[in-house]
Amino acid sequence: MARKKFVCGNWKMHRTGAEARALVREVRAAAEPFCDRVDVAIAPPFTALGVAAEELAGSRVGLGAQNLHWESQGAFTGEISAPMLVDAGCRYVLCGHSERRQFFGDTDEWVQRKTRAALAAGLHPIVCVGETLPERESGRTLEVVGRQVRAALSGLTPQQVGSLTVAYEPVWAIGTGKTASSAQAQEVHAALRAILRELAPSAADAVRILYGGSVKPDNAAELMSQPDVDGALVGGASLKAADFTGIIQGANR
Ligand code: PGA
Repeated sequence: MARKKFVCGNWKMHRTGAEARALVREVRAAAEPFCDRVDVAIAPPFTALGVAAEELAGSRVGLGAQNLHWESQGAFTGEISAPMLVDAGCRYVLCGHSERRQFFGDTDEWVQRKTRAALAAGLHPIVCVGETLPERESGRTLEVVGRQVRAALSGLTPQQVGSLTVAYEPVWAIGTGKTASSAQAQEVHAALRAILRELAPSAADAVRILYGGSVKPDNAAELMSQPDVDGALVGGASLKAADFTGIIQGANR
C-alpha cells in the first residue's frame, strides 16, 4: 500500500521565540513545494508554538508539540494539556519520546494515557518507541518495541489507530550520529507493522511508521526507500532549514 511519506522535525529544547520565527519562515518557504507529495510538520518547544503558528498560518506545514499531559486541565504545575495544544494551533503531538521515557519518567502506561488524551482532543499522536543499546545487544529489540507499541495502543479502536503515527527511534541512534542501517530499520518497522495488523487489521496498512535517530540528508533517501519506512522523525537536522529540506527531498524520491 502506498503511504504518503511524513517528515516531522523535533526541535527539542532549542530556539527562543525570535529564533523560532526565523527558522519557521525558512522551513515553510523551503518545504511548501513538497507538501503535495510529503506531509511535513515541525514540533518546536511550547514557548515557540505561538510564533510558529503565526508563521505557519495558511501553510500546509503542520505544527506539533513534543509532549502533553493526559488530563485536560487541573493542578498539574508545569504541564500542558491536549486542548491547550489544539488551542495553540497544533495538529500533532509526540507521545513517549525516548528522552521523556529516559529523563522524565514516562512509562508505558503514561504513554498510553497521553496517546488517548491526544486522540480525544483531535490531535494526531506520534507514538515513539525504541530500544536502548543494551537491549539491542541482548537481542531484545523486537520484544521491547513490541511491548511499547502494544501498551500505547491497547484498547484503541481501529479508527483511532488509523489516526496516529508510530515512530521507531533506537535510543542508541538518537543524537549520536549512529544510524540504524536501512535493513535494521526495516526489520523493526515490519515487526511493528505486524503488531498493528494484529491490533487493528483494517487500519494497519495505512499507518505511517517513521524512523528517527540521526537522520540526515545523506541517509534519508536510503532509509525511506524501505517498504515500511514511511518517513522520518528528525532531531538535530531539523534545526537547519537546508538539512531538513534535504531530508524532505529524500522522502520525495
Ligand atoms: P536526532 O534526534 O535526529 O538528533 O538523532 C531524533 C529524535 O530524537 O527525534
